[in-house]
Amino acid sequence: MPKIDLYRNVHMGQRARLFTLATELGAADITRGAAAAEQAERCLAMTRELREHADHEDTFIHRLLRERAPEAADALDAEHIRLDAAFTTLDEQARALPGTPAEALPEAQHALYLALNEVISAYLAHLHLEETVAMPALWQYAADTELGAVFTAFRASRSPEEALSDLRRMLPALPPAVRAAIMRGTVEAAPPPSAPASADGCTRTSPCRRPRRSKAGPDARPHAQGSRTHRGHPPPGRSHRPKTGPRTGLRTGPRAGRALNSGAAPGGMRGTNGHRQTGGSPCCEHY
Ligand SMILES: [Fe+2]
Repeated sequence: MPKIDLYRNVHMGQRARLFTLATELGAADITRGAAAAEQAERCLAMTRELREHADHEDTFIHRLLRERAPEAADALDAEHIRLDAAFTTLDEQARALPGTPAEALPEAQHALYLALNEVISAYLAHLHLEETVAMPALWQYAADTELGAVFTAFRASRSPEEALSDLRRMLPALPPAVRAAIMRGTVEAAPPPSAPASADGCTRTSPCRRPRRSKAGPDARPHAQGSRTHRGHPPPGRSHRPKTGPRTGLRTGPRAGRALNSGAAPGGMRGTNGHRQTGGSPCCEHY
């Protein structure tokens, strides 16, 4: 049985997106239209995400780490000085970029590129420390059940939309077998869709035979809006069978990452409102 790794998958996703951002920022035609504002916002969104990620780790992992392996926790804390300074510099330069005069834009773009690469440099060192010092310390001093509880607590804190966003960020950077395992775990953990007989007696598997009311009538709305609001009646030409996973609506094959990354509407995930993911095998665990 694989060890529970609290950092691995999410960090792989972060590395991939940081490298992509740096490459695309470096190559951007900053003089074009809204390119400066666009690149600036991408950098600001990245530092926001990395700060949030650090907060999650502090809340869910590093308390346990400090309790069991305080030296490792101290080592992580020491990294924050360089990291925080790098984030602040990147934020400042990103905010200034859209207001930069046209003739100064190329140099400002390169300064932002250097600031982003300093963030990447500091952040890679931080990830390496978490993965090669903190995680081994947790394997040594914490039980598997405690590490599993960390995942469970983190997942319970995420809304369905946040959980989906986590998957979109992470899955494209993972090997196909791992992506598939994560998707299987997600599908298995999702509650069944709440599709009891609806008000007019229809069910998902038993299309209603009642005559359709006029769209102009006061009760016409469910039929008029098709399968999204009335699951018993798919639009003309469509079958009842979903093209995606049986419960979450997410693809489960090796192309799952691509599907998620494309921003395709994961309709089934919306059906889990109010529910949290609680299952999954250790190889599927992620932040
Ligand atoms: Fe991390």
